[in-house]
Amino acid sequence: MKATDFLTIDDLRARAKKRIPKLAFDYLDGGAGNEANIARNRQGFTDIVLCPEYMRDVTERNQKVTIFGHTYDAPIGVSPVGLANLIWPKVDTYLATMARERNIPYTLSAVSTSSIEQIAEIAPDHAWFQLYVPGQEYICFELLKRAKATGMNVLVVTVDIPIPSRRLRDLRNDFTMPFKMTPKNIWDIARKPNWALATLVNGKPRFENMAPYIDDAAAGKSLNAAQALQVSPKLDKDLMRRIRADWDGPMLIKGALSAKSAETAKRIGADGIIVSNHGGRQLDSAPSTIEALPRVVEAAGDGMTIMLDSGVRTGSDIIKAFCLGAEFVFSGRSFVFGVGALGEAGGQHVLDMFATEVDITLAQIGCTTMAELNSDYLWDS
Ligand SMILES: Cc1cc2nc3c(=O)[nH]c(=O)nc-3n(C[C@H](O)[C@H](O)[C@H](O)COP(=O)(O)O)c2cc1C
Repeated sequence: MKATDFLTIDDLRARAKKRIPKLAFDYLDGGAGNEANIARNRQGFTDIVLCPEYMRDVTERNQKVTIFGHTYDAPIGVSPVGLANLIWPKVDTYLATMARERNIPYTLSAVSTSSIEQIAEIAPDHAWFQLYVPGQEYICFELLKRAKATGMNVLVVTVDIPIPSRRLRDLRNDFTMPFKMTPKNIWDIARKPNWALATLVNGKPRFENMAPYIDDAAAGKSLNAAQALQVSPKLDKDLMRRIRADWDGPMLIKGALSAKSAETAKRIGADGIIVSNHGGRQLDSAPSTIEALPRVVEAAGDGMTIMLDSGVRTGSDIIKAFCLGAEFVFSGRSFVFGVGALGEAGGQHVLDMFATEVDITLAQIGCTTMAELNSDYLWDS
C-alpha cells in the first residue's frame, strides 16, 4: 500500500493497529478512565463550525508561523511522546529528522527512548525539550543542564501529572517494561512480525535520558521507574520559579487548562502555555482543550504565546484553534500513528495531510495566512 492510500489520521491509526502488538498500541491509543476526555477532545473540534468568506483573492497562500524568533513552515509540531520506540522502533529519530527537514518543531520527551544529545544532533534547530519534574529535584536540574549544553532553546515543562492516572487498557494488559512474556503477550507479538523484526534489529527500547539517574536494573526495565521519574506531587510555584530562573530561553507550561493556571503561569514568568490535557491521558473529566483555550487566552493576556494540543486530527482543527487564539498547535498520536502505519515515511505523510488540509481550509474561508485567523471566522461568534 502507498502512503497516499491513507487519507486520514484514522486510516493510519487502523493500519498501525494491525502492525503493532496490542499492548503497545493500547499504550499509545488509550487514555485515563473510560476515555471520555479523548472523545470530548474530538467532539470539541467537531462542534465548532467555520464561517467562510468568499469574493476575496486567495491565490497566494502560506501557512508559516513565527514562534520565539523562528519561522516554521507549518502551524503544527510534534508533541512529546514518552517510550515512543516501544510503539515503533526509531520513532523518535524518524520524527526529529522529519521535523528538521520540514522545518517544524519536534518536542523530545523527558522519558524518551532517545537521548537529549542524540536528538539535538539530528535536529539542532528544531528540537524542543520537555521536562517532567521528578521527585528527586537534582534530576530535573541535571536534565536542564544537558538540554542547555546541546543548545536546545525552548523548554516545555509538563505540569499535568501530579500522580499517575488509571489507564485501564494498560492495567488490563498488565503493561510493564520489559514485556512480561506471558503466553498472551507472546501470541500478541508473534502476530506482528514487522514490529517484532524491527524491535529485534534495533534493540529493546530504554529510557535513554534517564539512564544516568537510575541504576541499570531500573533503566528501561520498569515502567514504574519511568512513572516515578514523571510524577511530581510536590511541583509547586516555588519549584517552577526555580526552573524558570535556571532556563535562559523561552519556557512553556504544558497542561494548563484554566484561567487560574494561566495566571499562575504568567506570574511564574513562563513565556507561554500549551493548552493540553495530555491527549486525554490524565484527568478523564477534564474539558476538551479547544473549549479550555479561550479562557486561557483571555487570562494570559498580552505577552504570552498560547498553543494547544490534544485531539488535533485534521487541518481544520488547527484552523479552529487559531481562530480561538492559539498561535501554534501540536499533535502526539497523529505522528506516531503515521510511523506505526508506514515506518519512516509516516511522519512526512501526516505532515503532508495536515498542511494540505490547512491550505484548503484557509482558502475556503477566505484567508491567505495564519495571522488573519480570528473569531470572525467562527460561525457562532
Ligand atoms: C503514548 C504517549 C506518550 C506521551 N508521553 C508524554 C510525555 O512523555 N511527556 C508529555 O509532556 N506528554 C506526553 N504525552 C502527551 C502528548 O505530549 C500530547 O499532549 C498528546 O499526545 C496530545 O494529544 P493527541 O495525541 O491527541 O495529539 C504522551 C502521549 C502519548 C499518546
